[in-house]
Amino acid sequence: MEKFSTTFFSLASVLISMQCLIALGGGATNYTTSDESVLLAFKSHLTYDPNHILAANWTTNTSFCHWLGVSCCCRGQNRVTSLNLSNMGLQGTIPPQIGNLSFLTNFNISFNHFNGHLPAELGQLRRLKEFDLYGNDFSGEIPTSIFNVSAIQWINVANNSLSGSLSDYMCSHLPKLRVLWLSYNEFVGDVPSKWGECRELQYLSFFGNKFTGFIPRSIGNLTMLKKLYLGQNNLQGELPLEMENLRSLEILGLRSANLTSSIPSSLFNISSLKELYLLENQLFGSLPMDICSSDVHGLEFLALQHNQLTGSIPRYVGNCTSLRVLDLSDNKLSEYGQEGLVSTKCDVYSFGIMMMEVFTRKKPTDEMFTSDLSLSRWVSEALVKGVTQAIDSRLIRKDEEHFFAKVSCVSSIFELALNCTAESPENRINIKHALALLQKIRLKFLAKLQ
Ligand SMILES: *[C@@H]1O[C@H](CO)[C@@H](O)[C@H](O)[C@H]1NC(C)=O
Ligand SMILES: *[C@@H]1O[C@H](CO)[C@@H](O)[C@H](O)[C@H]1NC(C)=O
Ligand SMILES: *[C@@H]1O[C@H](CO)[C@@H](O)[C@H](O)[C@H]1NC(C)=O
Ligand SMILES: *[C@@H]1O[C@H](CO)[C@@H](O)[C@H](O)[C@H]1NC(C)=O
Ligand SMILES: *[C@@H]1O[C@H](CO)[C@@H](O)[C@H](O)[C@H]1NC(C)=O
Ligand SMILES: *[C@@H]1O[C@H](CO)[C@@H](O)[C@H](O)[C@H]1NC(C)=O
Ligand SMILES: *[C@@H]1O[C@H](CO)[C@@H](O)[C@H](O)[C@H]1NC(C)=O
Ligand SMILES: *[C@@H]1O[C@H](CO)[C@@H](O)[C@H](O)[C@H]1NC(C)=O
Ligand SMILES: *[C@@H]1O[C@H](CO)[C@@H](O)[C@H](O)[C@H]1NC(C)=O
Ligand SMILES: *[C@@H]1O[C@H](CO)[C@@H](O)[C@H](O)[C@H]1NC(C)=O
Ligand SMILES: *[C@@H]1O[C@H](CO)[C@@H](O)[C@H](O)[C@H]1NC(C)=O
Ligand SMILES: *[C@@H]1O[C@H](CO)[C@@H](O)[C@H](O)[C@H]1NC(C)=O
Repeated sequence: MEKFSTTFFSLASVLISMQCLIALGGGATNYTTSDESVLLAFKSHLTYDPNHILAANWTTNTSFCHWLGVSCCCRGQNRVTSLNLSNMGLQGTIPPQIGNLSFLTNFNISFNHFNGHLPAELGQLRRLKEFDLYGNDFSGEIPTSIFNVSAIQWINVANNSLSGSLSDYMCSHLPKLRVLWLSYNEFVGDVPSKWGECRELQYLSFFGNKFTGFIPRSIGNLTMLKKLYLGQNNLQGELPLEMENLRSLEILGLRSANLTSSIPSSLFNISSLKELYLLENQLFGSLPMDICSSDVHGLEFLALQHNQLTGSIPRYVGNCTSLRVLDLSDNKLSEYGQEGLVSTKCDVYSFGIMMMEVFTRKKPTDEMFTSDLSLSRWVSEALVKGVTQAIDSRLIRKDEEHFFAKVSCVSSIFELALNCTAESPENRINIKHALALLQKIRLKFLAKLQ
């Protein structure tokens, strides 16, 4: 018993003194001095500080842990963990000393005018999780040393002048990435092909760069992805079928991406999808007929204008109860009478004008229209006087089959168009209702042909 107590107490005291040794060991280097000197180096690299914010605040008569935008951790050691100098009008460069802030986890200098190259020493910041340089004037490449920062979760370097290409192996080095925002820079080269290990990625934007090549099939590995923007690049080829695996996707932005593709119908099986921007490409084929045929009607924006789509408005589009914008303008119009009407435009007013344009083959800007006689007024008068006056004579000839059924169908469409273009917005019917009515008109017409 006695022996046990002695042993126990001496063991305990050894343990206690070991903890002291460990604690003392941590203090052997004066990190306080070195983190402070890094911040002072940072301050001395500023070339412009319009409100003298750092000039007045980052002074050595207070501990740097109380300086504006600085957060510290680790009682007794005072290590800088966060630098948040967002939106202060600062100009300057990032000094290489930054690499010595070895406890830094958040670095945010967004909305300033920092310039120059990013120092390779950033790669020493092993604990860095969030890196936000949005809206500065940085140029040059992202240093490859960043691949040593495997803890990184958030990279936002959008709105700078960064260039260079991205490695295919980015994801195998940075598996924790949640946000990768590279939009509005000058990045070149192929879209990286290996996305398999970026399993946490939720936001990815390459918008507005000079990326080339195909959208890699492995993009389908990003099952957590919520927003994907690849537009305004010089890509080529198709929308990969694997995109259907993006089961968390809410926004897909592929505007002006030079894609030559049909629209995979499986894209519309993604139940989370709210906004789909495929405008200004060379998409061909027809819209999948079964859009909104399933239980999921969450789609809000569907922008497909300026493509080469053909065919007809999908059967159940009136069931897309959340749809606020459907823009199919400037595609190839299928012939009236075969497939129905293709072209619709963003809001209900332009949708109405569009319907009138299609069947009159007249633009609101046509010289026959004056301030007293608008396209809609003319159409509305024709509905009273004789609707054939307003229908383009090349569309329906008097001697052709089903003449009356066709004229009556166009009358209903004109009536609907006028309901869409009512002078005051509150008198206009909503787009969803308009699409449903159009669908009804079409069915009625098809029934008459039987
Ligand atoms: C560490 O640096 C601080 C601030 O300059 C200073 O007050 C302190 O005496 C230094 N400690 C050691 C052990 O040198
Ligand atoms: C801190 O020191 C600077 C000079 O280094 C001085 O101008 C300023 O008044 C001091 N501020 C405070 C709060 O002591
Ligand atoms: C620097 O700014 C911080 C945060 O606003 C403030 O608490 C501190 O007193 C300021 N220090 C000086 C010297 O102005
Ligand atoms: C960073 O600074 C900006 C502006 O000074 C402030 O609005 C924001 O809340 C700060 N963010 C954090 C995480 O401290
Ligand atoms: C980082 O700190 C080490 C050790 O204190 C020092 O030797 C080195 O010069 C520092 N590096 C930079 C870039 O300041
Ligand atoms: C950086 O600061 C801006 C402005 O305060 C903020 O909007 C942004 O979310 C911050 N970035 C990170 C990674 O927290
Ligand atoms: C980012 O770039 C876009 C396009 O050039 C521009 O519209 C936007 O205002 C920029 N934002 C900032 C904060 O510079
Ligand atoms: C990453 O860190 C290792 C070990 O410190 C170093 O040898 C290597 O050069 C670093 N890689 C880059 C790209 O900086
Ligand atoms: C990523 O996707 C590709 C192509 O679809 C597939 O072959 C690969 O196995 C996936 N990788 C991972 C890690 O899931
Ligand atoms: C657009 O795509 C086509 C073929 O799909 C390709 O030949 C062309 O180079 C691409 N354009 C640009 C500017 O990259
Ligand atoms: C579309 O909505 C109508 C009612 O507006 C309903 O009768 C029909 O079953 C729906 N069709 C599909 C495919 O959801
Ligand atoms: C247009 O609106 C009027 C009045 O609200 C209504 O009687 C008529 O059925 C509507 N026509 C169409 C085609 O929607």
